[in-house]
Amino acid sequence: MANFTLNGKSVSLEVDPQTPLLWVLREHLGLTGTKFGCGIAQCGACTVHLNGTAARTCVLPVLAAEGGDIVTIEGLAENDDHPLQQAWVEEQVPQCGYCQSGQIMQAANFLKHTPNPTDEQITAAMAGNLCRCMAYVRIHRAVKRAAAIASERDTAQVMGQQTEATAATAGVGTFDPRATADAVSHSAAEETSHGKV
Ligand code: FES
Ligand code: FES
Repeated sequence: MANFTLNGKSVSLEVDPQTPLLWVLREHLGLTGTKFGCGIAQCGACTVHLNGTAARTCVLPVLAAEGGDIVTIEGLAENDDHPLQQAWVEEQVPQCGYCQSGQIMQAANFLKHTPNPTDEQITAAMAGNLCRCMAYVRIHRAVKRAAAIASERDTAQVMGQQTEATAATAGVGTFDPRATADAVSHSAAEETSHGKV
């Protein structure tokens, strides 16, 4: 029996505890976004997050994930809108696509701990994830772009919170042009019905 949390949901299943986690994910649970590449922890295609750390599931017995928290590419972001996923589309990274989920999961773990990486840090962090299509330049660019997207989102969120706080302090709501237009037309209608116009 194996028990863990997978993409936010509890999972229990009967399986040999020595079964590689990759096979449990793909064959038993049908999550085929995580790929089999080398089978010997050398390519990174099978990377997921286990308890917040990037892990290579082709060599990891499911026993090692007992009671753990696993996130696969399918659970990285609710609406597939993780900064890396956005950057991957913007930079048109994939060629055959086979290595891409492992690349993204590795990069996601890296950016979580290094939100403003240098080129050298990106190169070092992604060096263990192989791409037989040689998309390395685009992968590097997309990781950098994702860091910028995450930073832009953080800034927008902080500014939104500040605007709300300022409006609350001043005792006014957020300006809504549609509400204003409705109020004006309502007032004009009232004046018309009272014979003022
Ligand atoms: S398939 Fe796991 S590292 Fe290559
Ligand atoms: S895009 Fe083909 S292996 Fe990386």
